[in-house]
Amino acid sequence: MTDLVVTKRAAPLAQSEPTGAAFAPVSPVDIEARGVTKHFGKTKVFSDVSFRLARGEAVALVGANGTGKSTLLRCLMGLIPVTGGNVHLLGQQTDTSGAAALRQLRAKAGLVSQKHNLVPRLSVLSNVVHGLLGKHPGMRHWSHTLAPQSSPAAALHALERVGLGEFAGRRADRLSGGQSQRVAIARAIVGAPKVLFADEPCASLDPAAGEDVMDLFFRLVRDEGVTVVFTSHNVAHALRYGDRVLGLAQGRMQLDATAASLSAEDLRGLYD
Ligand SMILES: Nc1ncnc2c1ncn2[C@@H]1O[C@H](COP(=O)(O)OP(=O)(O)OP(=O)(O)O)[C@@H](O)[C@H]1O
Ligand SMILES: [Mg+2]
Repeated sequence: MTDLVVTKRAAPLAQSEPTGAAFAPVSPVDIEARGVTKHFGKTKVFSDVSFRLARGEAVALVGANGTGKSTLLRCLMGLIPVTGGNVHLLGQQTDTSGAAALRQLRAKAGLVSQKHNLVPRLSVLSNVVHGLLGKHPGMRHWSHTLAPQSSPAAALHALERVGLGEFAGRRADRLSGGQSQRVAIARAIVGAPKVLFADEPCASLDPAAGEDVMDLFFRLVRDEGVTVVFTSHNVAHALRYGDRVLGLAQGRMQLDATAASLSAEDLRGLYD
């Protein structure tokens, strides 16, 4: 890989602390990485990654295959431990939180992944109800028969929001790829998450279905003011849907800039 030429930096983010004597309204920081390093044994994925994401920001995380995008998402969600540095999610430091506190924290986050991971034999509605797992203390392993009574109504509402209310009773393995990805979005939003992580949310879809899914996803998250981190290999998507773009290459965060300040050519430099 050649040396990167991307040097643009993001404009300073809104800080959670007061920055002066005036009491200007500021957005809270929902996600903060401080010098995060991740190794898997002898495999060094990335080092010293730092950034802060303000509430309501949508951030595209880009980089070539294997640069650590999915790994970083998992670190930010507290799903895997960091090797160095630390992550603050919704004001809580993940590596010093106990298992129960971490579970409660993760219940405030949603995840949409490329492989939508629906349970094929269950109905669409039951799959969405699964998005409420972890919302109710002590009910981590509940099935849909034990779920709180409000769960099906909430799940149906989420399905209606992704335009699939009529599909509630259909088995998940009878859906098209685009429909499955919409169900995965419904499952991610059903618990009204404060932050959403999306790992290549439309990579398995054809271009038209991919556009539909991205448009829908961002309409929903913008309506709710949710903070979003999404990964994508689609440069146009990164620039269109992200307020800001972070780029991983050569084990470092090489790019952190507003989408408006970047061209597609700038992003292609990450893949050289
Ligand atoms: N559980 C794991 N154990 C060991 N190594 C891992 C594990 N998960 C990921 N890796 C390694 O970490 C590196 C980054 O992987 P990751 O999946 O985060 O990359 P990525 O940027 O998401 O790639 P892609 O664009 O292909 O999705 C790779 O070298 C991968 O082999
Ligand atoms: Mg990945």
